[in-house]
Amino acid sequence: VKKIGVFTSGGDAPGMNAAIRAVVRSGLYYNLEVAGIRRGYEGMISGDIFDMDRKSVGNIIQRGGTILKTARSDQFRTPEGRKTAYDNLKAHNIDALVAIGGDGTFTGANIFSQEYDIPVLGLPGTIDNDLAGTDFTIGYDTAINTVIDAVDKIRDTAESHDRLFIVEVMGRDCGLIALRTGIAAGAEAILIPETKTDVDALFAHLEHARKDKSSKIIMVAESGEAGNAFDIGRQVKERFPQYDTRISILGHIQRGGRPSCMDRVLASRVGVAAVEGLIGGRKNEMVGIVNNEIAYTPFEKAIKHNVEINEKFLKIVEILAI
Ligand code: F6P
Repeated sequence: VKKIGVFTSGGDAPGMNAAIRAVVRSGLYYNLEVAGIRRGYEGMISGDIFDMDRKSVGNIIQRGGTILKTARSDQFRTPEGRKTAYDNLKAHNIDALVAIGGDGTFTGANIFSQEYDIPVLGLPGTIDNDLAGTDFTIGYDTAINTVIDAVDKIRDTAESHDRLFIVEVMGRDCGLIALRTGIAAGAEAILIPETKTDVDALFAHLEHARKDKSSKIIMVAESGEAGNAFDIGRQVKERFPQYDTRISILGHIQRGGRPSCMDRVLASRVGVAAVEGLIGGRKNEMVGIVNNEIAYTPFEKAIKHNVEINEKFLKIVEILAI
């Protein structure tokens, strides 16, 4: 390996900049060249590629977003798009890649590395924490802290008005953001796609819930079995007119902000491990951390798996909501 290309792709996540910095600096440390590719696969296809030095990643470890920008590329899904991307990489003498992203990013990387002889390693960058082969993804810790900051604020106003709030959080089809933040925010109930918790179960819970609580928070993952926060809110309002119910969808606020210490350290560790992995001849794997140790997982295992939900987490919510 002589020259590594690094890019971010898919939804951005806090800590992606720390990951870019780690790849660039460790590449230079090991006497390699490093190029940045803007807007993920889109930039690979349009040739938006530039050489990076140690200064180009100065003062970014603490910044949210991604200095390399990001995109979801339809063109890269086509063989012609991937051919143009490969030609551009060759023109810039790039002979290895580090892809920072999630499911879609690694799906593309997997196809690409099977078609062309270019090793790719991936860094798990997504707030959703929906990849196998790492305990946590870069951005998840910051996002869950953003959520609990927001819900703490919602709790203040909920408490003042004796209101019930339905709070919807992101996660695509994964409920891990809702699960963890629900516990941390003292939620009354959590609705996530992995369990078949339906509105009836929520109703049964609310029937028996203590009536003298001033505020109640129901945490809902987007794309859950029971519908979105508006669907659930409407039904709760109809069934429990005694509750003064409000809905709050946190949205993209969850994707921004300064990365937490945990995300910066995770990004730095896997960034260095990716460069060392490429030097050591590894390819087509995601670099994660499992039980505090670096772990390399083939792309096809890292993506499209069923996230395992720790049922004890749901039990904790039930126990603590009495
Ligand atoms: O994958 C990250 C994520 O924020 C998901 O939680 C969410 O479903 C999706 O991206 C939103 O995508 P977009 O930013 O394109 O609206």
